[in-house]
Amino acid sequence: MVNVYESERLRDEYLLFHYGRPEQIHNWAGGPDQAHEFPKRIVERFSPGPADRALDLGCAVGRSAFEMSREAGEVVAIDYSHSFVEAGKEMQKRGGCQVSRLDEGSLLDSIFVEAPSEARPDCIKFEQGDAMDLRRDLGDFDRVLAANLLCRLQDPACLLARLPELVRLGGELVLTTPCTWLEEFTPRNHWPTGSTLGWLKDKLSPTFELLEEHDEPFLIRETARKFQWTVALLTKWRRVQGA
Ligand SMILES: C[S@@+](CC[C@H](N)C(=O)[O-])C[C@H]1O[C@@H](n2cnc3c(N)ncnc32)[C@H](O)[C@@H]1O
Repeated sequence: MVNVYESERLRDEYLLFHYGRPEQIHNWAGGPDQAHEFPKRIVERFSPGPADRALDLGCAVGRSAFEMSREAGEVVAIDYSHSFVEAGKEMQKRGGCQVSRLDEGSLLDSIFVEAPSEARPDCIKFEQGDAMDLRRDLGDFDRVLAANLLCRLQDPACLLARLPELVRLGGELVLTTPCTWLEEFTPRNHWPTGSTLGWLKDKLSPTFELLEEHDEPFLIRETARKFQWTVALLTKWRRVQGA
């Protein structure tokens, strides 16, 4: 099956989503401006203060990893898409890159997007990997983020089962999901049978304590006139019991 996340179109859509300035994304009066800067906002849900190691799973082109690098000594950023991981490395090396932004039909323009200037790119290690089959020597982390990843996995329960090993005792986990379960990504027998929130509580408790839950909107530009406005469910957890 073709991996949509390897395409140039999605790579550029995600570079714009993660690093684009609000006015590069849209200039429509009345647009959902509270939906900008999603990858930054969700990292701000971790309790503030220094951290030793942080992990961004399903990092895409890496903006949240840049945000995590402000406080973490080391950030490991993993995505299944080679193209996304290469784009993240490019942002890390050059501090920015040229993106083809689709206006309509075959009309494209070229814009420059920049990495956040106060982040610490040297602390980030981008790597290609499978969140359902992570390397055994990855170690453990003070902070683990998996943003909008669960409902893109074949078997999300497989990642949930690995989380107690990945999050240190007392460490924090932030999960976001738009709960858009699709057979294209996840066979129906691996979908939650009830609500996604109920399923997460069932899988993660009592090893993890639920600290907060709320809604986080995000906006992805497809063309100058068409956008995906989505509201993700964000949950924040602390690991409280042995793995
Ligand atoms: C909906 S995007 C979310 C990206 C990013 N976290 C964000 O919030 O913008 C899903 C991401 O998960 C990645 N992905 C899909 N399956 C994966 C897997 N098995 N292991 C790691 N990453 C995966 C995709 O390549 C894509 O970057």
